[in-house]
This record gives sequence, C-alpha cells and structure tokens, in this order.
Amino acid sequence: MVSLKILELLSDGKFHSGQEIGSQLSISRAAVWKQMQKLRSSGVDFSAVRGLGYRIESGIELLSTEKITFCFSPITQRICSTINLLKVVDSTNTYARRKVEESASNGTLIIAEYQSSGRGRRGKSWFSPLGGSIAFSLVWDFERGTQVLDGLSLAVAVAVQRAFTELGCSGVQLKWPNDLLIKGKKIAGILIEMMGDPLGEFTVIIGIGINYKLPHRSDEIIDQPHTDVVSEWPQAVSRNVLCGCVVNQLIGAILSFERQGFSPFSEEWLQNDALIGQECAINTATEIHFGRVLGVTKRGALRLSSFDGGENHFVGGELTLRSDA
Ligand code: BTN
Repeated sequence: MVSLKILELLSDGKFHSGQEIGSQLSISRAAVWKQMQKLRSSGVDFSAVRGLGYRIESGIELLSTEKITFCFSPITQRICSTINLLKVVDSTNTYARRKVEESASNGTLIIAEYQSSGRGRRGKSWFSPLGGSIAFSLVWDFERGTQVLDGLSLAVAVAVQRAFTELGCSGVQLKWPNDLLIKGKKIAGILIEMMGDPLGEFTVIIGIGINYKLPHRSDEIIDQPHTDVVSEWPQAVSRNVLCGCVVNQLIGAILSFERQGFSPFSEEWLQNDALIGQECAINTATEIHFGRVLGVTKRGALRLSSFDGGENHFVGGELTLRSDA
C-alpha cells in the first residue's frame, strides 16, 4: 500500500516535498497528492505548505513488535509467542476469528496499525485512525461453560486501567460494563466475542481499542463524547509502550480471572467507578429499569437501587445515564 510507505516517510514529523516522496516511491507528484488524500481519509492529519511539502506535525510513532514486546513480563512473553502485527486489517477481532477457525492457539495476538472496519459493541463501528490508535485482539481458550465468564469484560477494563496507571496516566474511570473514560469522555473500549461450545470448551476473542491520537475531524466521525491519550497526557506516553503494557496487564488479569473470577477486581473497580450515584436506565432485552447506580457485585453485575428501597442486579443490558438522555 503506497500511502503506508508515505506514512513511514512522514513519520519523522519533518517536511517532505511532493517531488521527494514521488521519487522515493517512483510515482508522479499527482499520484502523491492522491495518496495524501487517502491518508487523510484514513484519519491522518497533515499540513501541506507550498514550497515545503507535506508534514505530519509532531510525527507518528509506528508500531513495532520489538518495542511492544520489550514491555512484556517473561510470562506474557511465553503466552503471547505468536504476534501478528498487521499494517491494515478490516478488524482485528474479525481477523482473529478467521485465525481461530484455522486453529490459532491460546495467546495469539493480532495488532493493527489501521482497521478499515473496526467494530464496537452492539453492532456499532469503531474508528481506528491510521497510526493514531491502539487496536488489538487476543485469543483465549476457556475450558468450562460460559457462566465462568461473568465479569470478564469488567476485569479486562480494570487491566487496561492498570496499564494507564502504571504509566503515570491518572484519572481513567470505568463505566459498566467495560468502557474507559476520562471526565466522562471515552478513551478506550472493549469488545469480547465468543466462539465454540457455550457449555464446554470455547474461545474468547478480546478486542481492545484505545484512542491514541485522533484526527481533528474525529467529532464528525465518533458519535459520543471522546478523548485521546495525546490530548490528555501530551508527550507522556509512547504508543508502543502503552500497547505493550496493556497486553501485559491483560495477561496478568486473565490468569487471575481464570483462578478466582471477578471478585479480586471488584474493589479496584469500585474505586474507579464512573457511575456510582448516577441515575440511569438499563435496557435489557425485555424491559427497561430505572434507578441509581450503587456499584457492581463481586461477580461484576451492575447494582441499581430500586424505588422501593431495594436493589436489582443486571449482568447485561444497554445502560443510558439520565444526564446523557
Ligand atoms: C466499544 O466500546 O464499542 C468496543 C470497541 C472495541 C474496539 C476494538 S479495536 C480492536 C478490536 N477490533 C475491533 O474491530 N474491535 C475491537
């Protein structure tokens, strides 16, 4: 893909003329211009100055397997021994699913520089701009029925939050069941999908997307309040290091979750819960319930106060905050 080669060239944050890019890639200046438009539509911001050329302000840190795995503990290194670092993919979750069908093993990791059809929860799309997001999926085999999965998505959210904290990025909060927010704005999301026999052996694909550096026009693309790592912690966090730390925390969290479920994560969740005390509605497949958020149970269910002074627990459903409605 020509535009990826141009991205590599411009990743240094310096000006490169159309002529220079054209001669490096053996294409005409008009073709360079066309490729630059492709880059823009893949979510890359750049400036074009007559006489100087094209420049990505402050450059782009491209992903590198070496730099990502540098952050791995020995146990993560052993478990995630198969890493597919792709430049472009439709969705890392969809790709992982195809790999599982071809018998990908436990711990296979699919990381992408760019997703052309990233997927979010509830059939929504997920925007992963080229060079500006962290998007990966992990394949994990479980041996007992799906009920053992209660709370997995919350444990994964805690793992991502731990990685931020480890890197000195404070203020990340958790929104049930698995969103990560900064002051109410989404910075990361999790999509967990299951394959196989829900009563026996099955495989889970854990997809994590983090907004690293969104383009200026992200408001036109993302339909909810959002933010990114570079805006929240300017120059503080390397994209490769963050990716590596998240994978590392994720492996530690899953190993603990396999042994003890969500319970050991529940205190940490409550300390960082973005919703406690807020009025909300939860839409299960059959009913809508209203109440005030009390927190989560030891199994990761949402606790809502009911009007008669009692409380109800929900393991699934679409949550809407009254303040957002
Ligand atoms: C959500 O909050 O709606 C979930 C977003 C999950 C996005 C990640 S990015 C890596 C993986 N591949 C996908 O297509 N989706 C997940």
